[in-house]
Amino acid sequence: MQYYNNHAVEYVKKTLPISMTEQYGKFLRNIPNNGSILDAGCGSGRDALYFLKNGYKVDAFDASTELVKLAEELTGLNISCLRFQEFCPHTIYDGIWANASLLHVPQKQLHDVLKTFKASLKSGGILFCSFKYGKKDAIDELGRSFTNKTCEMLDKDLSNAGFTSRRSIALQQSTTPEGSPQAWVTGLAVAP
Ligand SMILES: C[S@@+](CC[C@H](N)C(=O)[O-])C[C@H]1O[C@@H](n2cnc3c(N)ncnc32)[C@H](O)[C@@H]1O
Repeated sequence: MQYYNNHAVEYVKKTLPISMTEQYGKFLRNIPNNGSILDAGCGSGRDALYFLKNGYKVDAFDASTELVKLAEELTGLNISCLRFQEFCPHTIYDGIWANASLLHVPQKQLHDVLKTFKASLKSGGILFCSFKYGKKDAIDELGRSFTNKTCEMLDKDLSNAGFTSRRSIALQQSTTPEGSPQAWVTGLAVAP
């Protein structure tokens, strides 16, 4: 969290221009018009803003106080400063969007977080999440800890958390803002 608090402005500048068009398409095709979406670990607020502009009802939270301030400025939303591990749903959503954010939750805590997300979705609601590809966890050059996943690992985690009806896991190649190649494991899971 220290990294995101200490480098919030720089982080927003770096990640705001990233195009998420393909991922939005896969997620939103499953969400009813004007449906409710939770952006969990919203960072800059880029995706919350996109969902708002497209007519969805949006809640968002993030654990970084500094990113929350910037995301509130960007979106005009009231954004909670909250850790995944403390999240307790007051609303039941049509969709939960957790792009590149659950990857900071240690594996031992991930199961409970995923179970809470499942409980926060309507029947037929959709969870989108993404992790860096890897068989082992890692710490990057910025000091951030990552819980990495293969497709098989994410599929098993989602199934164990109760996403037992429909899951779609994909491996995607992309480029970091610094220009290095990065493989991502993305999961779309339907709450039964
Ligand atoms: C790699 S960024 C991704 C941000 C945003 N979802 C995006 O796609 O640009 C990871 C985000 O997760 C947030 N985060 C890290 N650990 C968290 C936790 N335990 N609970 C909630 N948010 C957390 C960070 O503050 C940061 O905004």
